Amino acid sequence: MKGKFITFEGSEGCGKSTQSKLLYEYLQAKGCKVTYLREPGATKISEKIRDILLDAKNDGMSVTCEMLLYMAARAQIVEEIIKPALNKGGIVICDRYLESTLAYQGYGLGIDIGVIKAVGKFVTQGIMPDLTILLDVPVKQGLGYRENSKDRIEQRSLAYHNRVRRGYFKLVKLEPERIRIVKVDEDKEITQGRIRELVDKYVF
Ligand code: TMP
Repeated sequence: MKGKFITFEGSEGCGKSTQSKLLYEYLQAKGCKVTYLREPGATKISEKIRDILLDAKNDGMSVTCEMLLYMAARAQIVEEIIKPALNKGGIVICDRYLESTLAYQGYGLGIDIGVIKAVGKFVTQGIMPDLTILLDVPVKQGLGYRENSKDRIEQRSLAYHNRVRRGYFKLVKLEPERIRIVKVDEDKEITQGRIRELVDKYVF
């Protein structure tokens, strides 16, 4: 792969969308060819899968079905967008990727980590990020932002979301060079400064 692949991770309300978009603008201003995506979503098919996954009415969904739907959405975005963009030498920024499934369905719901990694390798075709930015914010603080419109995943208990956050920390321990924690500051410019420092150091 000639390009560079950067992903954003974090628990609910950590500001990933804002921060990943700011990074996108920064890299574009530098003259880079950048593709911006979110997971699950970004392709017509994956956005439909996203709707099924997040619909609060689908409360009967089994954990295996949930994990496989996230993976199915990922298989499509890898094949349709990520792989071609990286092959052309571009930078791809993705808001969430495989680490989300490891944290939310693995550490959060108890699906075997080895199974998720094996399915993940299959659907990503072995394409893994060069840098993963984990935005960290206390769970209660993050969930607070979404008090009114909670989707199927956000509705889960505080204990669940704490398992997700701790799961992310476990992933960092396994790959501290690739997955970097960025502490979220109240000032979004300060947080963005921390991110840009990492990207400048690890991607260029
Ligand atoms: P978003 O809120 O960052 O757009 O992500 C959608 C939701 O889906 C969020 O609650 C996290 C969840 N999610 C998983 O549970 N597993 C996954 O693999 C991914 C990509 C997202």
